[in-house]
Amino acid sequence: MSYYEIQGGRPLEGRLEIHGAKNSVLPILAAALLAPGESVIENCPDLSDVSATLDILRLLGCRVEREGDRVAIDASVLSRCQIPEQLMREMRSSVIFLGALLARLGEAELFYPGGCELGPRPIDLHLAALRALGAEILEEQGSLCCHQTQTNPAGREICLSIPSVGATENAMLAACGCESTTTIVGAAREPEIVDLQNFLRSMGARVSGAGGSVITVEGGVPLHPTRYRVMGDRMAAATYLCAGAAARGAVELVGVDPDTLTAVLACLSQAGCEIHTGENFIAMEQWGLLRGIPPVRTAPYPGFPTDAQAVLMAALAGGEGSTMFVENIFDSRYGHVDELRRMGADIQVDGRVAVVQGVGRLRGATLRGTDLRGAAALVVAALGAEGMSTLSQLRHIRRGYENFARNLRQLGGEIRELP
Ligand code: UD1
Repeated sequence: MSYYEIQGGRPLEGRLEIHGAKNSVLPILAAALLAPGESVIENCPDLSDVSATLDILRLLGCRVEREGDRVAIDASVLSRCQIPEQLMREMRSSVIFLGALLARLGEAELFYPGGCELGPRPIDLHLAALRALGAEILEEQGSLCCHQTQTNPAGREICLSIPSVGATENAMLAACGCESTTTIVGAAREPEIVDLQNFLRSMGARVSGAGGSVITVEGGVPLHPTRYRVMGDRMAAATYLCAGAAARGAVELVGVDPDTLTAVLACLSQAGCEIHTGENFIAMEQWGLLRGIPPVRTAPYPGFPTDAQAVLMAALAGGEGSTMFVENIFDSRYGHVDELRRMGADIQVDGRVAVVQGVGRLRGATLRGTDLRGAAALVVAALGAEGMSTLSQLRHIRRGYENFARNLRQLGGEIRELP
């Protein structure tokens, strides 16, 4: 099993192009099912979650061709509506196929999705939204059998009690298959939802309101294939910024909208990083010790993203002063803490709260990735630490970062992947 060997203490300097957003491209690939014909998705990152999604599309009968960061999906003919359990388990976002298949075929048979172990990740809101749009869903021993009960399903108002990203996306896709207007109240406001709206619009869908908490989908319009460029990955960008903050240096990122990272940039700036932004550009410089900052509470967008909690914590653990983190989105998102402690980090966890006391500098250790962002956080910590670290379980990293080690080497980091 391959692993990273990371020699810490080298500053990171230089420019990186940020790849397309994982959390955008996965629902967009599923949404490509909505229109018969060939759609082309550009800026599609090379990630294992993307490969798994393309496998699902092929299995459903699509012709899929990939060339560099362009993926062509011909969804002219769909030959089945079932997704086997093994493919569903590969990632959480496979559940978005539910809304896409219901809209296109009126039926779907799949299983409860997998994904990172962050505590319970129910899909009750997804199912309630689809039921509201006329779907009958039978749940049996982990399988989900869904079919549309109405010939011309009517849209209606859907109220989400939590602004769930996935449930909002599923509702948007299913609503495209309805004949009349659907209103999603309490929708998630994440930039990836705006990207999905833009993609659907480019197919001819009448969707509006994304970015705010009420999204309207006027159904009954035929959709056509499209060509679309996915937004830059703000979580990959946050990771590289935190790596630069931990290892010190001057990092420039292109291909990511700084407005999608306001909460993260504010924290880095409070910790002592100098940040400049421009259109699709973020530059950060940091040569001293990071300082502790006011409490970081994860929250739905535009609050501090749960996906950036681990990487920021890793950077601050090797700084000075204390910072309190409150994880409000997932029950069990401190899997990286035990590993950071092996590096000498001083972090106390009590339920949703973690208090990090900076120790000046972490030291290299033998580490094991526990989940996608947690594994990335350990790389961030190792780059800033004194001495050598190794990190195993790289499958987590491959889910969400394209050429992670190569990109960090391009910035001057000493990291290599060994078989
Ligand atoms: C998405 C992102 C993930 C990110 C998360 C929060 C993708 C593929 N994944 O995940 O990277 O960490 O948003 O920004 O885009 N909930 C329910 N019932 C449901 C659905 C969700 O109770 O049916 C709860 C969850 O347990 C969680 C909260 O709602 O506490 C937010 O989850 P949600 O926004 O749905 O996250 P994901 O879509 O799974």
